[in-house]
Amino acid sequence: MIKNILLIFFYFYTIDSYLLKLYMHDNKNFNMLPLYRYWNCVGFQKDIKNNKPYKFNVGEIPLVAWKDNNNNYISTLNACKHMGSRLDDGLICNGNLYCPYHGLKHTYEDKCGDIKIYDGKIWWAYKPIQNKIPTIPFMNSKKYSTSYLKIDMEEDIPFCIYNSLDLNHPEFVHNGLGFGSSIAPENYKYYIDNINKTAISFDYITKNSIKAINYHMKIENKTINYNEVIYPITSWSKVTSINDINKNIIIGVSMQPLEENLTRWYITLRHNYMTDFIGKKIMVEATKYILNQDKKQFSKQIKNKNLKKFISWRKALKYENHMKTLKEHFNNYQYPKINDFINDLYIDKW
Ligand code: FES
Ligand SMILES: [Fe+2]
Repeated sequence: MIKNILLIFFYFYTIDSYLLKLYMHDNKNFNMLPLYRYWNCVGFQKDIKNNKPYKFNVGEIPLVAWKDNNNNYISTLNACKHMGSRLDDGLICNGNLYCPYHGLKHTYEDKCGDIKIYDGKIWWAYKPIQNKIPTIPFMNSKKYSTSYLKIDMEEDIPFCIYNSLDLNHPEFVHNGLGFGSSIAPENYKYYIDNINKTAISFDYITKNSIKAINYHMKIENKTINYNEVIYPITSWSKVTSINDINKNIIIGVSMQPLEENLTRWYITLRHNYMTDFIGKKIMVEATKYILNQDKKQFSKQIKNKNLKKFISWRKALKYENHMKTLKEHFNNYQYPKINDFINDLYIDKW
């Protein structure tokens, strides 16, 4: 009997790891490319005005985008092909961008990278390797209301991502009016089912302050939580009450590297309760409060890269079984460097 059980277990275990290896083999490059080859969130749709160039950067790469006459977006380097002026002060006329220095015209022919608008946000990638932009759940559901907000964090992308699957910090960072509690989470599980995704789920105690805020949701004592990371810049979490399982709040984060240790978080906040004006306002303010608690912690993080690499992860805490895989995903991550990008442009005869 025991032998049979062991055999079955062994059978599934080997099939499972075989499939996983196969999958990994097919996707072994999923995290090998520079960040600019993935879709990068670079702003909210509402930030881009009709007659003004939109300036942004992905790490060290300076870029500019504008709308042509057909409402298509064009992006190029924020550097003029004549004598190197910045273009973000240029004039848009008939869907073309004119340099402020001597008026050189920039058209679709001069484009560098692709721009898309998706889920209220602006996305940019150079020769994108992903067909699809990562989705924050319930994007098209009429039952959900969505608010957008942004915040800059003094931390690099990998450590911002680690934070989003970090079950130990709420107790210390999200204390006071935040949701963090010294009561341990329960039912911690982790998932590494898709090779560019890592996720955790857990149940968390609900403090009275959180119950009071969520006035349209029945929370007796606990919430069910699911947090997911999609390599390289997306994370989202879903909070559901155990007593009211059809009501959810989703907090999506799309990250943009502004500087080596500065990351902009574009937050997509969705919920299918408290969707009236006041409810939405309360949700936004509560989210801001919680994000500012993280911001305060990020300002305390060591900034020296070598020291950080040397010291971090020498010790581990509870609920970190998933961190090993998550860290491996970021083994090849580099802050986007202009020299690497220029090399690629040379190779591509841009
Ligand atoms: S620098 Fe742009 S037109 Fe001369
Ligand atoms: Fe946090």
